[in-house]
Amino acid sequence: MTNSADTTRRDFLGWLAGLGTLLTAARGFPGSRPAPSQLPTRPIPGTAETLPIVGLGSSKPVLEIPTAGTEPLAAVIRVLLEHGGRVVDTSPRTPEIDAEFSSVLTAPEFRDRLFVTMKINTNGAAAGEEQMRQNQMLAGRRTLDLLQVESLRDLDAHWPNVLRWKDSGEARYIGVTVSNNRQHDDFEAVMRSEPLDFVQINYSVMEPGAEDRLLPLAQDLGMAVLINRPFMNGSYFGRVSGRTLPDWAPEFDCATWAQFSLKYILAHPAVTCVLTETTNPEHMEDNVGAGFGRLPDEATKRRMREFVQDF
Ligand SMILES: NC(=O)c1ccc[n+]([C@@H]2O[C@H](COP(=O)([O-])OP(=O)(O)OC[C@H]3O[C@@H](n4cnc5c(N)ncnc54)[C@H](OP(=O)(O)O)[C@@H]3O)[C@@H](O)[C@H]2O)c1
Repeated sequence: MTNSADTTRRDFLGWLAGLGTLLTAARGFPGSRPAPSQLPTRPIPGTAETLPIVGLGSSKPVLEIPTAGTEPLAAVIRVLLEHGGRVVDTSPRTPEIDAEFSSVLTAPEFRDRLFVTMKINTNGAAAGEEQMRQNQMLAGRRTLDLLQVESLRDLDAHWPNVLRWKDSGEARYIGVTVSNNRQHDDFEAVMRSEPLDFVQINYSVMEPGAEDRLLPLAQDLGMAVLINRPFMNGSYFGRVSGRTLPDWAPEFDCATWAQFSLKYILAHPAVTCVLTETTNPEHMEDNVGAGFGRLPDEATKRRMREFVQDF
């Protein structure tokens, strides 16, 4: 007889074996490659749809398109897909960058395999409408998976249109985002007053504020939760640099500092998917690895917070 802990442990060992084979292949040794383990999924509350628990925050690879081209972005999306991931979070950029980005999202190898989340991040209803059309061009289709108003920016102006686009089928799901603890009170008020399908919130082992009220509230209200800033836009790695993982990290199948924060996040039952931003396929592989194996329990999470609090 197996239980879910056995299953996640087996998947973790499968992920480790797949990683070993990938690295061997990358070093030029031939060998047959087993199919990589597929990420666990969690439900979008109130629907029959599920999402894999690790996704890509695309800001950095998209902003680097003018200097690095589209290949680094395509490479990290390939790693994500290989492990059963499919969530890609986006924001409107310049028309030139978005045209290049769109060529990636709509390429035959990616099109129809991704759950692409989009944003409105401007002032005024007319400019918001323009961004909606830009988002549709970016996605290469009329129906967006998820439309979010970023950081509540001019929410009153955009929200009537966002509701209308959901009614008309132009957005399957709608939501709002926040990435700063100072906006959490305003965010909570919007969560309590609006019919949101998704919320996107900043949360990590060094920025755990959302677990006080926002995450339990999302659970109570049946909202799907995306997490941003898992590494505080990279500053986390500066703080853990030169430090050794605690010797109890293997107790929850944690092999790297990236997985230390991601497993902390994924252990919260409100979380649907964590968005990790990277330009590096090996980092994407590392981040996907956090989705396999055991997760820390509440006592271990407390220990994790205490361990990093003075870093
Ligand atoms: N208000 C909003 O709606 C809002 C605000 C902020 C962010 N977001 C969303 O959240 C996403 C995540 O962005 P974030 O700012 O929160 O960034 P983050 O994921 O917290 O950190 C990204 C940084 O971590 C590095 N990194 C990633 N994986 C790593 C690994 N395994 N090992 C070492 N370094 C690693 C990346 O560098 P490398 O390229 O070298 O890997 C990058 O510099 C964004 O792309 C966006 O989609 C939304």
